[in-house]
Amino acid sequence: MKARKFFVLSGEHPELGRDEVAAIAKAYDPRSQFESEHRLLLANTSASLEKIVRRASFVRAAGEVAGTFESIPDGSFPIPRPHTFACKAVNLSSNPVDTRALEREAGALFAKRWNSKVALSNPNLVLYLIITDTARYLGYSPPMAVPPRPNKPYKHPHELSWKLARCMVNLSGVMEGQTLCDPFCGTGTILLEGESMGIGSVGIDLDMRMCRISERNMARNSYEPRIINSSFDYVRKIEERIDAVVTDLPYGTASRSSHPPKKLLRDLLLVVPSKKRLVLVYKKGLGIEDLDWSKKYEIFRHKSLTRVVVVR
Ligand SMILES: C[S@@+](CC[C@H](N)C(=O)[O-])C[C@H]1O[C@@H](n2cnc3c(N)ncnc32)[C@H](O)[C@@H]1O
Repeated sequence: MKARKFFVLSGEHPELGRDEVAAIAKAYDPRSQFESEHRLLLANTSASLEKIVRRASFVRAAGEVAGTFESIPDGSFPIPRPHTFACKAVNLSSNPVDTRALEREAGALFAKRWNSKVALSNPNLVLYLIITDTARYLGYSPPMAVPPRPNKPYKHPHELSWKLARCMVNLSGVMEGQTLCDPFCGTGTILLEGESMGIGSVGIDLDMRMCRISERNMARNSYEPRIINSSFDYVRKIEERIDAVVTDLPYGTASRSSHPPKKLLRDLLLVVPSKKRLVLVYKKGLGIEDLDWSKKYEIFRHKSLTRVVVVR
């Protein structure tokens, strides 16, 4: 059944976070519909809330939308009565709001209405009071377990952050049981994130040392290491077995590059069949900014590194 769900996005990359959640929801329910405001995404979707939350990298809070309210939530709302609950007010508006006072007022009101207790640790339900510039939403959520992170004992300076890697896997729309390929896999960050979400993965890297690192990182998590020591164009040989390509192009300094980045990218675009989803990240300023992408995001790391994530 479709229900209206809310997602409060982290302040890090609200645009990426919004599109990440939308891509996950659409993978499970292609008819999902969305509305968004600054750092808040509302989704009409039958995709499971828990599944989206377990996958998404940039979600701070999420739940079902019960309705809207004016100053305090004193109407009637379709919320299952919990034994214990906590109130959490989130101010996403451009005005100051006394969130503590709002939490206290709503806590007292619902405790009386439900004959339930407010419990700050391990509540059965969290009531969310979300304030934006246009509305005040009342939402709720049962406790949701955070999945354990994959272990990554073997590292390298050129590795991607797990959050960005995970977000890129999600932007590709791959689902459990499907397979992604990272043809510049390095230490295997993208492969690990995919596997931790039940997505099969194949890694390719020209550098044997990087292949070994990826293999060991995969093995440490008991994921089947399918790492091929080859150039990226090996993708052609396995295109029937993969559903998406998600990758991080070498950019010359800390990461070895076999060809100039522009040639590498153009050749990669030739070997990845156009019907396969392609998500890649590269360092801004490699002279490959002129291509057309369906989506493009810039991520500033420091003054000499801005990353560009693109989706084809
Ligand atoms: C930016 S790093 C990838 C880092 C990886 N995302 C991680 O988190 O560890 C790029 C990788 O591409 C590999 N590489 C360079 N040229 C290649 C080629 N022609 N084919 C395949 N891999 C290549 C390098 O050895 C390097 O490990």
